[in-house]
Amino acid sequence: MLIHTNQEKNQFHLTNGHVSYIFHVMKNGQLGHLYYGKALRHRNDFSHLQTYDVPTAASCHVYEDDPAFSLETLRQEYPAYGNSDFREPAISVGKEGIPHVPNFIYNSFRIVEGKPELNGLPATYVNENDEASTLQIILKDKFIQAELTLHYTIFRDKPVITRSASLKNEGTENLVIDRIMGASLDLPDKDFIFTHLAGTWSRERHVKERKLEMGIQSISSLRGASSHHHNPFLALKRPASTEHTGEVYGFNFVYSSNFIMQVEVDHYDIARLTVGIHPFGFKWNLVPDESFQSPEVVMVYSDQGLNGMSQAFHNLYRENLIPNQWKKEERPILINNWEATYFDFNEERLVNIAKSASELGIELFVLDDGWFGKRNDDTSSLGDWYEDLDKLPNGLESLAGKIAETGMKFGLWFEPEMISPNSELFKDHPDWAVGMPGQHHTLGRNQLVLDFSRPEIVDYIYEKMSDIIKRTDLSYIKWDMNRNITEAFSRKLSAQQQGEFFHRYILGVYSLYERLTKEFPHVLFESCAGGGGRFDPGMMYYAPQAWTSDDTDAVERLKIQYGTSFAYPIYSMGSHVSAVPNHQTLRETPLSTRANTAYFGTFGYELNPLMLTEEEREEIKGQVAFYKQHRSLIRNGHFYRLLSPFEGNETAWMIVSPNQSEALVGYYKVLAAPNGRKHQTLRLCGVDEAKVYQVAGRNYYGDELMQIGLQLPTEFNGVNSQKAKRGGDFQSQVFHIKS
Ligand code: DGJ
Repeated sequence: MLIHTNQEKNQFHLTNGHVSYIFHVMKNGQLGHLYYGKALRHRNDFSHLQTYDVPTAASCHVYEDDPAFSLETLRQEYPAYGNSDFREPAISVGKEGIPHVPNFIYNSFRIVEGKPELNGLPATYVNENDEASTLQIILKDKFIQAELTLHYTIFRDKPVITRSASLKNEGTENLVIDRIMGASLDLPDKDFIFTHLAGTWSRERHVKERKLEMGIQSISSLRGASSHHHNPFLALKRPASTEHTGEVYGFNFVYSSNFIMQVEVDHYDIARLTVGIHPFGFKWNLVPDESFQSPEVVMVYSDQGLNGMSQAFHNLYRENLIPNQWKKEERPILINNWEATYFDFNEERLVNIAKSASELGIELFVLDDGWFGKRNDDTSSLGDWYEDLDKLPNGLESLAGKIAETGMKFGLWFEPEMISPNSELFKDHPDWAVGMPGQHHTLGRNQLVLDFSRPEIVDYIYEKMSDIIKRTDLSYIKWDMNRNITEAFSRKLSAQQQGEFFHRYILGVYSLYERLTKEFPHVLFESCAGGGGRFDPGMMYYAPQAWTSDDTDAVERLKIQYGTSFAYPIYSMGSHVSAVPNHQTLRETPLSTRANTAYFGTFGYELNPLMLTEEEREEIKGQVAFYKQHRSLIRNGHFYRLLSPFEGNETAWMIVSPNQSEALVGYYKVLAAPNGRKHQTLRLCGVDEAKVYQVAGRNYYGDELMQIGLQLPTEFNGVNSQKAKRGGDFQSQVFHIKS
């Protein structure tokens, strides 16, 4: 049993042997939080966990004159503002134009085996009903006649609980929701390090840490996308916790638009976490009989440090988030023509690239931006989803046929949500762009955004895309999104409804993904937003891989991929070998290091194979063969971070097969340092201590590999050129370990 209830005391305990989550109904009828963390043994009554601790009557506002009960000091489950709690709330809702202090009183509960879908929203799911149980708590606010349901799903075999909230208007008048979080969590104290992933275009998801302090600390996006700048991921780590030890709480928001993840530490050093749609600018009109469903928050508890948290996210996303089709099927090694040609190509050039790549063993040819309308640079044609006959005079079918003849699959780039002012579509439908009529429209990369809050526009794009998928027998789509949303305004929404725009927009994006992935399950989608600007679990529900970053430099990628692995499986990270000097940094790294970094992801190439030397071609053939040999391990394995690029000159990580019979270890040293230690070793993780492993011609017991470490080849130290096996800047090595 995963959910225990005490109906007399109105207590609820979700537990699966890994985690416990306990809450109850307080004496005012609202929900109080009691505990979240490592599994506790169940007992029939948890009343003793409730502490009525009102410090001084002078500083506290008590409830109904009971001096021992103040919402200001009680840990709550889904708090409101305006009563005796002065912290930021989970919910704010009222009748149109009438101020209201929400008062949601416990009504009843339901337990559902498995996990119901979240209407229109991506969310984790179960494959079999016995994988999880869902508790739904129903609360009612009589004054506004609204029913609030809090949804909690606990997974049977994972340290994971998911939460969301939905609100139904049961009255006869319109309600207005100003704020509805997916989850709110009152923690017992503030002794945590706020750990998150931040950056910008080309350096996404760098790991950032800060100590929680009194006051509000948050990460957020108001860009209409989850963003390059802050990933909707947050870990609260105990100060003494490390990569592999200690308590960490991880949170990820299954949403791809405006969000907030906030921790408010109050005057008693108590931390309140809230995660949800960013309330700034959000206003949802809830008409009678309608419901609003918040997106889902995934909560992971780990007592095995950050890495334990990451593995829980990885397992969940591999098994309970990505489309079924891609759980077992290997993803093709691809070549993308973007950095090879940019907009400058024709059919012959593309087919030559494809032929040459196919000889190297590459399996999928992806034609990136520039194949449609009259697009010779980024100033035109978005929305004109038909081939440019100047570049492809024989049409897309002919190109697709010629690619198929090389033995490769065919993929195409789309930017479905965009419209260029210089396009046929804009001439026909200038009113389809997001923005206020007659007012200034900010351009981003010379383009405007299509109003995906309008179903008829989504339908139009669906027709265009599905037609091309059918015509070309397409295997893969790279779905790009190269600007954020400004002047957010839909011409189809009334003035009162404009606060719904961002959410309706992303629902439109999800609905297009839903239709295309359902109709064409064999098409592999890779999400992209100018690189990693929408790398989030919402997208992952449809697209099992994402273009991690436009930065393909191997050294920069160490940080980007390391940070991304905090929440996302490495097999979700599009990672390609590109040409040198690198197009983003002008750095020249060895071909081997570029591959050694890219192996820890979904592998591909982003270069012109016709420009390679014979020697490089041979090396690439070896890389392709190596990846094919190991990709099921990369898809399935348990990932361990060993050395952090944020802490020093070296990075290391490894992936171990579920049965611990083999592993791949990646070791990278950015800058050479002379005369270092003589016998450098790298301590590994996750292997079986009793097994004997063979690596680089030597045998080790698993415990030796973990306690003493894998001996790295001798490094050049200024005088040992005879013996040295490695040296120079940007050196790296990948070791295959087999029992
Ligand atoms: C941004 C993407 O991240 C790149 O890989 C490429 O597809 C360009 N857009 C094309 O415009």
